[in-house]
Amino acid sequence: MTLQTPNIAVRVVRIEQASPLIKRFTLQAADGGPLPAFSGGSHVIVQMPTASGLIHNAYSLLSSPFQLQQYQIAVRREEASRGGSAFMHEHLAEGDILQISPPNNLFALHASSGRQILIAGGIGITPFMSQMEELQASGAAFALHYAFRSREQAAFVDELTARYGEHCHFYDAAKGEQCNVAGLLQQMTGQDHVYVCGPQSLIQAVQAAGEAQGIPPARLHWEQFAASTQGGEAFTVVLARSGREIRVEGEQSILQAIEQDGSVAVDCLCREGVCGTCEVAIVQGEAEHRDQYLSEEEKAAQKSLLICVSRARTSRLVLDL
Ligand code: FES
Repeated sequence: MTLQTPNIAVRVVRIEQASPLIKRFTLQAADGGPLPAFSGGSHVIVQMPTASGLIHNAYSLLSSPFQLQQYQIAVRREEASRGGSAFMHEHLAEGDILQISPPNNLFALHASSGRQILIAGGIGITPFMSQMEELQASGAAFALHYAFRSREQAAFVDELTARYGEHCHFYDAAKGEQCNVAGLLQQMTGQDHVYVCGPQSLIQAVQAAGEAQGIPPARLHWEQFAASTQGGEAFTVVLARSGREIRVEGEQSILQAIEQDGSVAVDCLCREGVCGTCEVAIVQGEAEHRDQYLSEEEKAAQKSLLICVSRARTSRLVLDL
């Protein structure tokens, strides 16, 4: 890869089935020492040596920021997995060693004298678990609104209830329960912040409700799990500095193809098109932008693209790498 920061070797010390589709992994430093400090909402990038090459996925840390002898992550088994979640679910065993990045936080809590309103959909519950540790410890006012398809499919409901009690509100779609996002935002006061993590439809509902109600964008925060990398046509990326040509398959991102090739290192933090770290200049060709970072003007200018999510409109894309 590609990460410019040194990786951390961790041992998988425990694997638990948190729901039919979600496993929780407990990781400890391979050298037995404490792991780097992190804040609620942080993620790490896990390297997965699959049969088709090295895959890197970002996972939120759901363990306590006050307990650095271990990290915990949760991974949902994705039907359309290109190998990452399948590797974690089917090939990883207790005792195995993994390489992970140091924690980064692109979804941090904002200091506020008001309430912190956390809205989770499905596996989007994970960043809130470390955030709630912080909120509980600081005595902050907060509420979790956690929506899921069914109680059987939902992870961590019992432990959230046991730990945070009346702070938690659950919405079981199988029972016809729905989280009234607009209603929640209507109750916000001037100092409250709202955070949402989950499927794009949930994030869009919060964004639309916030816009309709005139809530300042600085008080709305979101983290999207499934980046819009639904794939597309295969194309060729040319690394301008070496002339090397790399095929990007239909279900691959440019970043993944470059990582598998291994000839050049690229920085990346979120792998979701939101942080801007992986921005690369376009030398020739046109990008199909899929990120949430560049402005519409920057996208139209076709001077650069974010290679973790964006693709090519042309059969060849020459990049300044
Ligand atoms: S790694 Fe964050 S935008 Fe690409």
